[in-house]
Amino acid sequence: MSGVTEWEPEAENWVRWARQPGHDAYWYYRDAFFDLIPPAGERTIELGCGEGRVARDLFERGHRVVGVEPAPTLVRHARDADASGSYVVADGAAVPCTKGAFDLVVAYNSLQVVADMQGTVKEAARLLRPGGHFCATVSHPAMDLGRFVQGKSEMSFTIRPAYFERRRVDDTLEMNGLEVTCRGWTYTFEDYFVAFERAGLVVETMREPRPSTTSGTFERWQTVPLFLMVRALKPR
Ligand SMILES: C[S@@+](CC[C@H](N)C(=O)[O-])C[C@H]1O[C@@H](n2cnc3c(N)ncnc32)[C@H](O)[C@@H]1O
Repeated sequence: MSGVTEWEPEAENWVRWARQPGHDAYWYYRDAFFDLIPPAGERTIELGCGEGRVARDLFERGHRVVGVEPAPTLVRHARDADASGSYVVADGAAVPCTKGAFDLVVAYNSLQVVADMQGTVKEAARLLRPGGHFCATVSHPAMDLGRFVQGKSEMSFTIRPAYFERRRVDDTLEMNGLEVTCRGWTYTFEDYFVAFERAGLVVETMREPRPSTTSGTFERWQTVPLFLMVRALKPR
């Protein structure tokens, strides 16, 4: 379970990074994600919940949420911030919950991070009742393929050629005095969509949202998609 070893040492940095309002991309993309997800049913589960901000936002929108996260320090922070919530230390590919117990499974910015992406999608399908939905946000494969380069007068986006090559992501981000190291993998569109297909999930729709800000650090993501958002159905 490499997710535990990799994210546990970054836990305190991640909490500071994730909880600073307006600091990271979450604040400019979450509305697009919440527009994609179905109305609250009886039970929702989030795989890779971190310190719990998505679970808390879902709760505010009427969801009863279980948060699943392998890093114990992040689960402790999630519980401290939400005493009435339910948080479990577990791998997203092996969740100690009953088959078919959830109307909605959410994976926000975690499928490209988990040790076993296909296994986690399969686990999402197992946890869903027939007719339930799986909603995921991942790093957009186009974003993984390139980087912004500041030219003399304008910014350009430079693409590397090996789209099909699966690469390790190990990026230390620094912004406004905060720092965090994010680790995971790059995937192609096909990797994700085949994982959904093999898990028996039918993709209903997808989004390539632009940030809800047209200034500051995230303005450049008006031109290239930072995230891919998908809603899939477990057929009855
Ligand atoms: C980029 S953070 C996103 C956290 C949260 N969803 C949010 O948006 O604030 C990715 C999370 O995935 C978790 N993770 C890593 N490996 C995992 C695994 N095998 N199963 C479930 N989650 C995992 C990390 O510990 C981390 O909390």
